[in-house]
Amino acid sequence: MLAADPALAGGTPAVQGRGGILWFAGRFNAASGAVYLGFGARMCIVRAQPNLGVMPPLDSNQKEIPMPAGKRFKITCVGAGNVGAAVVQYCAEMDLGDIILTDIVEGLPQGKALDLTQAAPIRGYNSVVTGTNEYKDIEGSDIVVITAGLPRKPGMSRLDLLEKNANIMAEICQNVVKYAPDSIVIVVTNPLDVMVYTAFKKLGFPPERVIGMAGCLDSARMRAFVAMELNTSMKNVDTMVLGSHGDDMVPLPQYTTVSGIPITRLMPQDRIDAIVERTRKGGGEIVSLLKTGSAYYAPAASSARMVESIIRDERQLLPCSAYLTGQYGLDDVYIGVPVRLGKEGVEEIVELKLADEELQALHKSAEEVRTGIKGLQDMNLL
Ligand SMILES: NC(=O)c1ccc[n+]([C@@H]2O[C@H](COP(=O)([O-])OP(=O)(O)OC[C@H]3O[C@@H](n4cnc5c(N)ncnc54)[C@H](O)[C@@H]3O)[C@@H](O)[C@H]2O)c1
Repeated sequence: MLAADPALAGGTPAVQGRGGILWFAGRFNAASGAVYLGFGARMCIVRAQPNLGVMPPLDSNQKEIPMPAGKRFKITCVGAGNVGAAVVQYCAEMDLGDIILTDIVEGLPQGKALDLTQAAPIRGYNSVVTGTNEYKDIEGSDIVVITAGLPRKPGMSRLDLLEKNANIMAEICQNVVKYAPDSIVIVVTNPLDVMVYTAFKKLGFPPERVIGMAGCLDSARMRAFVAMELNTSMKNVDTMVLGSHGDDMVPLPQYTTVSGIPITRLMPQDRIDAIVERTRKGGGEIVSLLKTGSAYYAPAASSARMVESIIRDERQLLPCSAYLTGQYGLDDVYIGVPVRLGKEGVEEIVELKLADEELQALHKSAEEVRTGIKGLQDMNLL
């Protein structure tokens, strides 16, 4: 584990002296790790260390001045591969909290954490990033993002991959239960909806604390394609993509708008159809370009967006894989639906009015997920 003193995670160096607020300007001494600040009549020292954190300031009598109180969140990312490392990068850049990156490969999370730590002075974030191979270091995490898993290799069937990743998920969940029993868990590992169902069963957490990331990504892809088609700002585009993460996903053009204007008024139907199709195949398009590996920037950005909505209690309405108990006529399955994401996790599952064919597509998508769940049940893994 890299050295990371939690006491260093104090936030910005707010400096105040007894008897008045002091303005400071100072110099950082790399050898001693101290910042010397001059203030006319008084002298105040802020102890700082190069690994991002700032300790509480000292007054001229060397007594600590309390830092402003405020909770620092602890975020764990399990899996330090392409997606995991990028999740950590985005979470750090958003200053969402201090971050633990863990993996089974020795040195990998430590190396990436150190690299991200060295980017901090330039990017200007305060998150303390720590790499580890020890599960005990995730203790007390508020949020755990699971990106660990194996990719499908040549000769491996879908069922083989399911079995391998379900075993990985079981081992991770056992440790999350042990060390972070109050956390909210976001699953990213594929096949997504089956893996988040597996995590839900293994963790035994209430369903609002176990969520899958996929719809955010699929919606982001659709937003990008709409904006590219209309040569407009990505920020103006809103979309909703439901269903399972894969070819059976259900993009909803009727809920796609540009600054509130439905896209049906902005482009012909054949262009909308092409965008829907490209969204469905969005992951595959990137795999075929990369040749090895799969997308990670947009998946990580989508995961970080979910973390942000929870940590900042933003209650964003985002499409996520959530456990259904009758909504949309589906029960005991994880599938992508619009949810309100806040500090409790899934605070509401929003039931949209869907056209008959959209509802049928959602049910077909759920059947695909059930097939995967059944495969794991048949192997006694669930
Ligand atoms: N839900 C989505 O929309 C979405 C999008 C992109 C990728 N993914 C999935 O995310 C996962 C990660 O993708 P990636 O590109 O980062 O893959 P990657 O191969 O780069 O990284 C996976 C990491 O998991 C680690 N790992 C394996 N077993 C582990 C274990 N038992 N404990 C801890 N770590 C372990 C590996 O060592 C590796 O570093 C894959 O399953 C991928 O299919 C999902």
